[in-house]
Amino acid sequence: MHQELNNLKRKAHEHAEAYKHVVADDPYRLHYHLMPPVGLLNDPNGFIYFKGKYHIFYQWNPFETAHGAKFWGHYISEDLVHWDKAPAALAPDQWYDKNGCYSGSAVVSDGELYLFYTGNVKDEAGNRESYQCLATSHDGIHFEKKGPVIHVPPGYTAHFRDPKVFRHENKWYMVIGAQTEAEEGVVVLYSSEDLLNWSFLGPITGSRQNQLGDFGYMWECPDLFPLGDKDVLIVSPQGLAPQGFKYQNVFQTGYFAGEVDYQNVRYQHGDFTELDKGFDFYAPQTTLASDGRRLLFGWMGNSEEGDARQPTHEHEWIHALTLPRELEWKDGRLYQKPVRELKHLRKDNIERKDVTFESANPVSFDGINGNVFELEVSIIDWNARSFSIKIGKAVKIRYDTMEGILSLEREGFTPDKEMESRKCYLENLHHLQIYKDTSSVEVFVNHGEEVFTARIFDEPDAQSLVFQSDGQLTASLNKWNLERIT
Ligand code: FRU
Repeated sequence: MHQELNNLKRKAHEHAEAYKHVVADDPYRLHYHLMPPVGLLNDPNGFIYFKGKYHIFYQWNPFETAHGAKFWGHYISEDLVHWDKAPAALAPDQWYDKNGCYSGSAVVSDGELYLFYTGNVKDEAGNRESYQCLATSHDGIHFEKKGPVIHVPPGYTAHFRDPKVFRHENKWYMVIGAQTEAEEGVVVLYSSEDLLNWSFLGPITGSRQNQLGDFGYMWECPDLFPLGDKDVLIVSPQGLAPQGFKYQNVFQTGYFAGEVDYQNVRYQHGDFTELDKGFDFYAPQTTLASDGRRLLFGWMGNSEEGDARQPTHEHEWIHALTLPRELEWKDGRLYQKPVRELKHLRKDNIERKDVTFESANPVSFDGINGNVFELEVSIIDWNARSFSIKIGKAVKIRYDTMEGILSLEREGFTPDKEMESRKCYLENLHHLQIYKDTSSVEVFVNHGEEVFTARIFDEPDAQSLVFQSDGQLTASLNKWNLERIT
């Protein structure tokens, strides 16, 4: 059994070695984001601070740039910015996880690291089974599988996955994303004294509960944690129809805020708010930093047909994680900022203070351009109808004051490359922090009030940055090149 496990992991490693140069030759390989060494990456998993280091695992199919029997890939860091690749932590090699070690989480108990994940099994007829499984480790590198700890309870389909474990008032709890037999997406709660024996407490919220109406047929990757004076539930429902600017991607990720009543197994909460207004964000996971900050990583992708058109396939890899973010509860909403540690990547600062944009003519500045950079725009005085920043030829960020709409446009991945856009309402725009990497952009708006994330495949040497305002606007610009860490 052990031999088999080592065999699969070794195969994945050998495959990565064999394609190392093909992957590295891709101009779209990112400079400061986590990617799979080869193959496909999706959800972040097991994000945890353990024995002085951050660990992030991820859903990984080493052998194809498509979904399949997932491994857990693994990166380790001391500062959330510079990461070392570790050997795959979990391989799908047991009867209870043979079709994938699906998403899950990590906790530390008595100096040991516990990984909880979903064992995905498909029988010959294609019927699905799922098991919530445990694997443990003393060193955070080598993991020993302990097998299933939870079976699907009556009333639920085998779409029962993505365990997130946490501690609350001297007990362990687990939330799981589930589908009822009536095909509603729900989040269920379990509790445990010892991390091994789990009691089913019941659903805490879901589609058709808490006045949500019909809110999706399956809820993936729940994460429940306190933030400020709220209990926040992040979850990724499948099956929401587009509504105005909302729910434009194939699947959505957002949060609820409210109060969990652990005694009566209830979660009273408000509306669902999407976490990211861009094109490529899904299935995020949070953990606590060593200093108490709530940190989040997301998958910078989504399960979309458009995946098939991303050019990185040719170089045998696809998808990446977002930058890590820190979360804050402020003024009745969730704020997301890039983790402050990312400042360590900054170099070659160029600053332009109090620039006045006078007319509709496009303006560029010496040195404020490039392919990989961070740009901060602080708007001091608005007298314009609109303001836009065009990055290369594939991305445009634009705010229209009359409409109160912020938009991100990108060149599509379709062969005709038509522009496509995502939008949100925004009362006013005073600050933008833009992280541009070779093939991605993350736009943090008003210090984290909104975020837009997108993969983009511009000409690889695109360098231009063009500002344009319809009317008069004064702003300060700050630009840095960013150190390559990959
Ligand atoms: C979300 C998801 C999870 C599942 C994993 C499989 O993207 O579908 O629900 O555990 O991906 O890779």
